[in-house]
Amino acid sequence: MARTYLAALCLFVTWFCYAKELPQTADARRELGAALFNDRALSADGRVACSDCHRPEHAFSDDHPRSTGAFGRIGNRNAPSLLGVGTSTVYFWDGRRTRLEDAVHDPFFMPFELGLRDERDLLERLDNIDYRRRFEAAFPDAPDASMDHVEAALASYLRSLANDGTRPRETSRTDPTLDRRVAMGKRLFFGKAQCVACHEASADSGRYTDDRFHPSALGTRKLAAQLPQLVPLGMSKATDVEAVGRLSGENRDLAELGRFLVDKQPAHVNAFRTPSLLNVAATAPYMHDGSVATLEQAVDLEIYYRGLESGRPLQLTSEERTELVFFLKTLRTP
Ligand code: HEC
Ligand code: HEC
Repeated sequence: MARTYLAALCLFVTWFCYAKELPQTADARRELGAALFNDRALSADGRVACSDCHRPEHAFSDDHPRSTGAFGRIGNRNAPSLLGVGTSTVYFWDGRRTRLEDAVHDPFFMPFELGLRDERDLLERLDNIDYRRRFEAAFPDAPDASMDHVEAALASYLRSLANDGTRPRETSRTDPTLDRRVAMGKRLFFGKAQCVACHEASADSGRYTDDRFHPSALGTRKLAAQLPQLVPLGMSKATDVEAVGRLSGENRDLAELGRFLVDKQPAHVNAFRTPSLLNVAATAPYMHDGSVATLEQAVDLEIYYRGLESGRPLQLTSEERTELVFFLKTLRTP
């Protein structure tokens, strides 16, 4: 009898501790993730943190066409917003990663991002009293600073940013003309202009992306002359995803091959993942290479190119283009 009581008591105590500890551990994990995200000491020159390219005031992207990493090195891609990244299933412009934990691993080791040599280089930088305390609080069962723990902490921090951020903000009720134009823009987006075919969402929620790969409006004309050389070269290069990331940052021409470098599918030459349009007003400049300065220009380019691509050229008046832009500016995470 006594034994049964004892067992029940043990069970209760375990449950109690577990139930009490879990939220604390989750908080500690997010806090550790935030500390890692903001720490410049985790870069090769001690001057760049994740948060320098993913800045809160720009919806966790930045305002450079292509961002500057350790030692002033510049890659070939525009930094995307990280808001809502927790509900995504593919990462990077070429979708080379499919788990958030893997996506947060790569930036440490890209020469044009944080530029660290290897995992040991990173773990040595975490070997201090402050991080030791943080890892203990975040992973009480196995408090070592391992790569798995770094990835889990960063992923849980990013998942906590703007939750899934799927609801576009209500428009103002103080300016009826603006509200009417926003409503017209929305109707165009989901109707005649068929932007929703790739920037997938329902009428009032979603991330405005299908997470699939489509040709860029910028590339093919620019690339056409070089393709006969580039495609075979891209085919033979970079067989694992981390190597694809490195190559895309280092070789500007090959970077333009986009998704093709990952899956070697001819249809994916110069194709990129449809970007989410949430917070798009805060993430200029635009497109995978940051070569389009304003939202107006990005919308004009998309109207022209998507019409051409589908064989149904879009005839939109300049008023209709403005309405589309007004609508896009209302897409915000809460
Ligand atoms: C030098 C600027 C820079 C730094 C530093 C940087 N990033 Fe990025 N980040 C980028 C760029 C550029 C991309 C797009 C790369 C690509 O698609 O090939 C990106 C993409 C991402 C993505 C994929 C987002 C998506 O929706 O596809 C995640 C996640 C991410 N970064 C997290 C981080 C984390 C975590 C750190 C720090 C460990 C970090 N980044 C450091 C510039 C940077
Ligand atoms: C066939 C799929 C497809 C359709 C249809 C489409 N887009 Fe896009 N859109 C993309 C892809 C892919 C990119 C990224 C291209 C690149 O980076 O070079 C993109 C990029 C954008 C961007 C830049 C976003 C950023 O963060 O860089 C905007 C804005 C945009 N599209 C708006 C629109 C509008 C408005 C329409 C309707 C007129 C539209 N798109 C139709 C696939 C599509």
